[in-house]
Amino acid sequence: MAFREGRMGIAPPPTERHGVRSPQRRRDIALVSERERTLNILVTGGAGYIGSHAVRLLDRAGHRAWIYDNLSAGHRSAAPADRLIVGDLTDRPRLTAALAEHKIGAVMHFAAFALVGESVADPAKYYQNNVGGSLSLLEAMRAAGVGKMVFSSTTATYGAPQTTPISEDEPQRPINPYGFTKLVVEQALADYAQAYGLAYAALRYFNAAGASPHGDLGEDHTPESHLIPIVLQAALGQREKITIFGDDYPTPDGTCIRDYVHVDDLGAAHVQALERLRPGQGLRLNLGTGQGHSVREVVEACRRVTGRPIPVEIGPRRPGDPPELVADARRARQLLDWQPRYVELDAIVSTAWRWHSAHPRGYGD
Ligand code: UFG
Repeated sequence: MAFREGRMGIAPPPTERHGVRSPQRRRDIALVSERERTLNILVTGGAGYIGSHAVRLLDRAGHRAWIYDNLSAGHRSAAPADRLIVGDLTDRPRLTAALAEHKIGAVMHFAAFALVGESVADPAKYYQNNVGGSLSLLEAMRAAGVGKMVFSSTTATYGAPQTTPISEDEPQRPINPYGFTKLVVEQALADYAQAYGLAYAALRYFNAAGASPHGDLGEDHTPESHLIPIVLQAALGQREKITIFGDDYPTPDGTCIRDYVHVDDLGAAHVQALERLRPGQGLRLNLGTGQGHSVREVVEACRRVTGRPIPVEIGPRRPGDPPELVADARRARQLLDWQPRYVELDAIVSTAWRWHSAHPRGYGD
């Protein structure tokens, strides 16, 4: 079954085909056009770190987000209670019913497991949830006639790239099951677009970081494996020290370089992709700032922002860490008219510190 045209996209602006319109008629058209621009969006994983920030930005852009989350990694209090549907991606009847009931026009698909090390130890968990869950979602969308998806992909699909900064033309050769699961879904999206007219944007994030400047949404993973929250936990005294995983990389200070991109900038790119996607269009875009920072530079930024000493030890390399991952995100800037607002590492860390210092136990659930 092909995706139905009706719900696929945003109506183009009305054109003046029949001469001059009366003021009343212009007002009517403006209203209809406004309604069509306002989409109901199903946000899978909308109670998670990046999804919850995207929900807020969708609301702010005038859309209505419905959150579909099984709360295995998401947090109930990160989602508006009256729009939270607790459900699993593999529950296709429930998904199909949610899409129909809320007249969903497009899906933002964040829900996934995302720990590289865990994916190596337990690939079945990753293939079943990340691939199986996404296929279940795509089938529910076909059944309900929802033809537009913005998908959370990752720099992990590139594996250990040879060139830097990394453009979308870099070959995708993942080096762990997590990266493979995301690449498989990207391929499914391309095939569904070709055969059934799905419109999609696969957004490949570099290192998501920071928190809402309002201080009420932030990063809360169990276990936490990401650098900035770990360093801030050390600043809070919740950890004795941080271990730098290797200082013998071929980088200026010997530690790995990453491109830290603010979570609200990621969310904004999702909203812009959603609003710009045309029926049948497929976009694959990197999301990063184009600036790389070493692990040592991140620790220094955290010391400056928190004003606290953060003890550091040097440990062995973590298997599978490429020395440098920095985005060439020019395509997203061009096609989405996207411009990251947080360009300074200290500004990103400040928002994270605001969250962690006010919520030392995260959401507390
Ligand atoms: N690091 C440390 N000590 C720590 C934690 C991290 O030195 O306690 C280092 C890592 O070795 C790495 C850098 O900090 O060099 C960033 O590590 P993160 O775990 O925060 O992020 P990654 O770059 O490993 O992971 C990100 C995404 C993944 C994605 C991966 C692709 O979070 O989802 O990029 O390479 F799969």
